[in-house]
Amino acid sequence: MSTPFTNQSYALGNGDSYLIRPIQANDKERIIGLFNHLSPESRYLRFAHAISKLPDDFLEDILHLDYETEMALVAVIHPQTESEEIIGISRYVTPPNQSICEFSLSVSDSYTTHGIGTHLMLDLISHAKKNGLLEMVGYVLSGNSKMLHLVSDLGFKAFTIHDDPDFKTVSLSLSEE
Ligand SMILES: CC(C)(COP(=O)(O)OP(=O)(O)OC[C@H]1O[C@@H](n2cnc3c(N)ncnc32)[C@H](O)[C@@H]1OP(=O)(O)O)[C@@H](O)C(=O)NCCC(=O)NCCS
Repeated sequence: MSTPFTNQSYALGNGDSYLIRPIQANDKERIIGLFNHLSPESRYLRFAHAISKLPDDFLEDILHLDYETEMALVAVIHPQTESEEIIGISRYVTPPNQSICEFSLSVSDSYTTHGIGTHLMLDLISHAKKNGLLEMVGYVLSGNSKMLHLVSDLGFKAFTIHDDPDFKTVSLSLSEE
């Protein structure tokens, strides 16, 4: 089911560029580095509660993906050098025996509004389509207007969760029309 991913390079603006590639098992310190560069507000928007340290089981899961049902893409600057740094991550997980995947997304506060979140989502969507998944969903805090705007630009539709007004469900069909 899993398909090879072609690493993509994108311009950052100031002459620099970043690369989007699948996460690797040796990215642990770089993932912790990204988390440490997220403001308390961004951590809350991503995890829907205040956390000061990445849970060990989260790190374990994300560094050892089951590529049949999951994918995590990272945006990196200075790839394959000692100063390689992860500046954003997108991920989906798929519950057993389902064709609907659930995404999450974070971009380092120092690198927002350069299109990195959009590119991470576009590459993630493309990978999910190649893997035969039929729908991508996400749960976004209702007050997270930036994220709601970003996914709306990508064609996601937003729905109110009736018994939980704090969140919206966003959904994108991945089947070709
Ligand atoms: C929400 C989040 C992922 C957005 O990431 P990002 O990299 O800033 O996203 P983008 O740059 O692709 O798009 C954001 C805005 O920048 C604008 N933008 C895109 N490329 C740009 C560029 N080259 N120059 C200037 N602005 C640009 C986009 O138009 C967009 O604005 P709009 O929403 O008004 O249209 C990031 O702010 C984040 O990590 N937030 C905290 C965690 C979170 O909320 N996660 C979502 C929970 S699932």
